[in-house]
Amino acid sequence: IPVDVFDLVIIGATGDLATRKILPGLYRRFFDGQMPAGARIIGAARAEIDTEGFRDLARRAIMEHVGAAKRDAVSIDAFLEALVYVPLDATGEAGWDELKALIRPDVVNAFYFSVAPSLFGDLTERLHSYGIATPETRIVVEKPFGRDLASAKALNATLAAHFREQQIYRIDHYLGKETVQNLMAVRFANILFEPLWNSQYIDHVQITVAETVGVGGRGSYYDKAGAMRDMVQNHMMQLLCLIAMEPPYHFDPDAVRDEKLKVIRALQPVPSSDIVRGQYLGTAGKEPKSGYLEDVEDPNSRTESYVALKVQVANWRWQGTPFYLRTGKRLRARTSEIAIAFKQPPHSIFDDAGGSWPENMLVIRLQPNEGMNLKVMIKEPGPGGMRLVQVPLDMSFAEALGEEGTDIPDAYERLIMDVIRGNQTLFMRGDEVEAAWAWTDPIIAGWEARGDRPQGYDSGSSGPDDALMLMHRDGRRWRNIHG
Ligand code: BG6
Repeated sequence: IPVDVFDLVIIGATGDLATRKILPGLYRRFFDGQMPAGARIIGAARAEIDTEGFRDLARRAIMEHVGAAKRDAVSIDAFLEALVYVPLDATGEAGWDELKALIRPDVVNAFYFSVAPSLFGDLTERLHSYGIATPETRIVVEKPFGRDLASAKALNATLAAHFREQQIYRIDHYLGKETVQNLMAVRFANILFEPLWNSQYIDHVQITVAETVGVGGRGSYYDKAGAMRDMVQNHMMQLLCLIAMEPPYHFDPDAVRDEKLKVIRALQPVPSSDIVRGQYLGTAGKEPKSGYLEDVEDPNSRTESYVALKVQVANWRWQGTPFYLRTGKRLRARTSEIAIAFKQPPHSIFDDAGGSWPENMLVIRLQPNEGMNLKVMIKEPGPGGMRLVQVPLDMSFAEALGEEGTDIPDAYERLIMDVIRGNQTLFMRGDEVEAAWAWTDPIIAGWEARGDRPQGYDSGSSGPDDALMLMHRDGRRWRNIHG
């Protein structure tokens, strides 16, 4: 779908997100010929640099974050031509008149708030008092969208004071990941899965987002958040919604978001016995690694860098089928996947097989090696009777789709272009975010009230031992975390 000419203003254009994701992502779109002639990217930030300085910064960002095969000197120069910079004081008056003068009212206008949420109020007010915003203006905001229900409501109210919901694009970058969108394609473009997609045929679902990195230089943010706020309330919740939701009547923003919202509202409160929290420990040896408590300021921190929980979706479709979620830092491998474990066939006709065999399982790999694996039973070759063996029907998107499959666009590229197209399907609606916090808040309040300490786990392991127990006691097993 072609993209209209636009003025995209990045507020906070010299910051980490802009240089790591937004500018490189825009360049990749340009390189692929997907940026319309005449489109402009206006950087705005406190830094007193000029357009040349901003272009230098963008050039460095592209060299660092775009692979050599996806860039060349000529197109970088051409891309940088589209960049302009204006020094802007978010809380003062400097720069706003200059910004207004730059923006063309006859093209799509979007403002990416790549700044702390505490500045959103100042920004929205000034966009109005300086006559910059119009009823068509779009604003883009990032997580963290609040740290609990009250703060998320306050943020929504701040934005709603000057913008309609249709103008607000709340990013959850997981929704921009190609394979996450594929969840909807797999479910709703095939007749094969949906008839079995319920508690009658599905035993349980496992959602894993494992990372190898620690909290690194983000300790001061992370220690106030923890895995529950940082990953579960948003990214994992979105994955769960896409797996659990009813078919929307159409692939359209509100139809999809209405169905996701119903899932969030159907989530049961989680008892403390169904939650395991962990904190990574340091390692000695040749390549020593710091532990969580050394990576953050507070040596007594009770913040979790790992969480596993058993979640129940209380509705007709899912009653009795638990969703096990786990995410953590410094785990054995970087891997995100969703595993749908089916039930056993109701009756075995094969005496030799002992009456039971491994369950069918559909594994959707979100990253890396995006693909799908369906585990099915077949007969073991040989004359010795009917012995069954499980084999994978394994498909890697890269192999199946050739070059297109390996050239997977970054989530941000996709999402920014959706903002310009005016398509909100992959963005979170205000009520969705609030519902997600309403479910998360009591869980966090519970362990804060009890003063729970997370269990230590070794860096490079698959998480705390108690997390294994969470499934063992139900007679189930986590899949191995491997790269
Ligand atoms: C971010 C979290 O939203 O997602 C980070 O704040 C996390 O803590 C990151 O590392 C994971 O994203 P991805 O795309 O690398 O899976």
